[in-house]
Amino acid sequence: MTSLLSVQQLDALTVEWLLKRAQNFLEHQAAVQLRGTVVNLFFEPSTRTALSFQIAAQRLGLAVLNFDVENSSVRKGESLLDSLQTVEALGVDVAIVRHAENWPQLIQDMDLGLTLINAGSGTFEHPTQALLDALTIKQHFGGFAGLRVSIVGDIRHSRVARSNAALLKLLGAEVTFSGPEQLRPDDLGQTPWINFEEAIVQSDVVMMLRIQHERHQSWYDPEHYNERYGLNRQRLWQLKPNAIIIHPGPVNRNVEITDEVFQDPRCKILQQVTNGVAVRMAVLEWCLQGGRYEQLVPA
Ligand code: CP
Repeated sequence: MTSLLSVQQLDALTVEWLLKRAQNFLEHQAAVQLRGTVVNLFFEPSTRTALSFQIAAQRLGLAVLNFDVENSSVRKGESLLDSLQTVEALGVDVAIVRHAENWPQLIQDMDLGLTLINAGSGTFEHPTQALLDALTIKQHFGGFAGLRVSIVGDIRHSRVARSNAALLKLLGAEVTFSGPEQLRPDDLGQTPWINFEEAIVQSDVVMMLRIQHERHQSWYDPEHYNERYGLNRQRLWQLKPNAIIIHPGPVNRNVEITDEVFQDPRCKILQQVTNGVAVRMAVLEWCLQGGRYEQLVPA
């Protein structure tokens, strides 16, 4: 079995295959029935990721356990490693983990036999979110080469921004970051930082990000944020007619996106959620098949 901890471990061919497989799952009922037990180990809150992994596993015939962290031995001080070793000893095959730390690094030297899927690691990575965002983009544009993608908002604290920038560049898109200077990260890497007004007019894809109140207390003024850095009725006019608006959710309504933006046909937020189930089916299957896709039959 193979783990999915980071988008950095994926090559373009594997990503294209995972997206194709996910699209296939959307269009046809899954004919594959896998065997095994999956546990959802979420140390941070989640609606979309936790539920979509649960639905994906059920559709593939896998048994699903939801680990209630608040009522578990974590409350007695059990470490992440001890929890993982415990679920492995119980016979679990796949642990889907979300944690406030960069947890893959914390356990990298540990000898664990179960498959691990990163459902969010602090401000570092959210690989399945990047894959479902890529699927949403591919459904609209057919491919990635030369597409201009602007990721806007709380980049400093965003695992979504980091995973998406790496994945979309791998696929051939041109990625830029934008938003308040206060939320500009020190580790931009090779990704250019551009003015928000420029991002709005030039982008094919505008990815808006939530201000992550839970990770910082820094400058934030909800009323003025939308005027300066949010999408609203006026800015919809400035967007390219064929552009799309995406957001990983949850949304701070009327902060990064106003109610009118949700009504615009270019807004694909719920399509992203639907795609999350199919992408996670493809990822679970890929992991359980040992990271090989050549032998997999169409769904
Ligand atoms: N996008 C995302 O990770 O949403 P949840 O926190 O609801 O899982």
